[in-house]
Amino acid sequence: MGYWIDRCYCFGRTFAELKDVADETGERTVPGLQEHVLFGERCMLCHAYVRRMLRTGETVFSEIVTDADEPERVDEESVEESVEESVEDRD
Ligand code: FES
Repeated sequence: MGYWIDRCYCFGRTFAELKDVADETGERTVPGLQEHVLFGERCMLCHAYVRRMLRTGETVFSEIVTDADEPERVDEESVEESVEESVEDRD
């Protein structure tokens, strides 16, 4: 018997719904999507699946996907901010 994982089970949001929100808003991160739709705020096991959905477009999974498989990426904005802060620290 295989797995059939297609949603954030805590909030009942399918990955297909979340993909539509990502397509409509241009959001490419879990926190960014959470600004538009309620999901992923309980057990957070869906975060790795959502990251994979954002990366590949898949919305149904037949395998376990963990944070190790789809690590949270440092977004470019926060890297730029930390670079700016370190430049300011030197001044
Ligand atoms: S499955 Fe998404 S928060 Fe639990």
